[in-house]
Amino acid sequence: MTTESINQKATVLHDGETASNELRRRNVSTEPRCLRTPTSSMAVIESSAGSYHYTVEGRKLMDFTSGVLVSNLGHNPTRWWKRLYDYLGHGELVQKLHDGISESDEQFVRAAPLTVYNAVSPLEVESCERLLKSMRSESGGARMEQVLWAASGSEAVQKALWASLAHREEGDIIIATRDGFHGKKGLSAAITGNENSPDRDPRVRFISFPKEECYSVEKRREPLDLTKYEAELTALANEFGSRLCCVVTEPYLGGGGSFHPQKEYLQLLQRFCREWDIPFILDEIQANFGRTGSMYAYSHYGVEPDIVLLGKGLGNGIPVDAAVGRSDLFGALGYGDGSDTWSAHPLGCAAVLATLDEFEAGNVIEECQELGSVLEEGLLRLTELPAVAAVRGEGTVWGVEFQALKSDKADHTPEEVAMAAVEACYHGDGAGHAIHVLGPLAGRVIRIAPPLVLSTAEAREYLDAMYNILSRLPEFLSGDENWQPSQS
Ligand SMILES: Cc1ncc(COP(=O)(O)O)c(C=O)c1O
Repeated sequence: MTTESINQKATVLHDGETASNELRRRNVSTEPRCLRTPTSSMAVIESSAGSYHYTVEGRKLMDFTSGVLVSNLGHNPTRWWKRLYDYLGHGELVQKLHDGISESDEQFVRAAPLTVYNAVSPLEVESCERLLKSMRSESGGARMEQVLWAASGSEAVQKALWASLAHREEGDIIIATRDGFHGKKGLSAAITGNENSPDRDPRVRFISFPKEECYSVEKRREPLDLTKYEAELTALANEFGSRLCCVVTEPYLGGGGSFHPQKEYLQLLQRFCREWDIPFILDEIQANFGRTGSMYAYSHYGVEPDIVLLGKGLGNGIPVDAAVGRSDLFGALGYGDGSDTWSAHPLGCAAVLATLDEFEAGNVIEECQELGSVLEEGLLRLTELPAVAAVRGEGTVWGVEFQALKSDKADHTPEEVAMAAVEACYHGDGAGHAIHVLGPLAGRVIRIAPPLVLSTAEAREYLDAMYNILSRLPEFLSGDENWQPSQS
């Protein structure tokens, strides 16, 4: 990797990637850097199919990210697209596009609208009913009564918190788990991170999350001592009593570095909420639709939340998010309090229907459980390598934590090692296996989250490739000439 400065902004470039480099340069001069997080690969992806991306040079990359845990059914599934077009009534349009548009054609096609602000679309009604049915049919889904759509995950979080704040007049103290990630805007940002993050909201109190106790797969198998966590909750109850508003947590800390707790922790939080009669909000925006090996994380963790937040995989790539839960909570918001231009967008609702259809018609969940075991085995093998400190996760969402490493040239920090690992995976093993992963979480954790439909044979092949690539990280870090990236 080299970097180049364009209008005082650095862009990542890779040797031999003429077309990608040109696009990277154009990109950096037309978009601010704040749209991205640092990553040493900065792949330029032209097309994708199933579990693979293709760069503009035509190089094939295994996608170990699913976008950012979005394309659970893989990229561009044919049957899913067909369902989406059918829901939108685009059959005639697709035919016209195929046949070619002539002068005599009508100027417009009659199909589902792409906006019905403040009206109701049948797609919206059907997708609410189907989503609620799906959620209620899983254990822990009994409180799923209404869908409050949102246009992003952050917005779903914001709306759930607005509803909780409005529900009880005196309740203004939001309890959130420390070092979580819920988004970057408004109240979602206020409950992200910890007491030392910028822009704190005085209504938010953080409680500890058992990060040490679930630092690795082995540690997570040990029983969790809840004493410390009970004490923190009791202290907050003693301090705030009837001012308590709600408890909000992710099932596992995703963006915070992949910490998957023992189930008893979430169950403790739920017990506390019941005792104090406050809503228990589960932000499973990155876990929903199968990531943990169950359709929803609440059933996987044995809890029954009052509000569940959904996003990412919900539309398999079409942006759609929602807060789903108790109607009395959402009823606390008046007309217009939760409305905006894009929520309940017909395209998003059609995507939810098409995605639910695919989950209900096939064996995605059963198959991804098998994939989960293969990922666990292959990723745990990485802990044999000096670069890898720990592996943790479940189902098809895992984190590989890197540690300091010596190369011939220098001592490298865990952050440098993790960033080098991203780039080394991008260049591949020299035998045609290259892997797309994102810039590290919490500085040193690389998330492994392929589409749920990745075959176990392909998973094994690429996990072996990853082992080989990471075993040569010291050479990569020292810029050894024998390092052979894959040929394009
Ligand atoms: C658990 C969780 N909640 C909320 C969000 C925010 O979603 P969005 O980026 O769509 O605002 C994310 C995004 O990564 C997330 O992982």
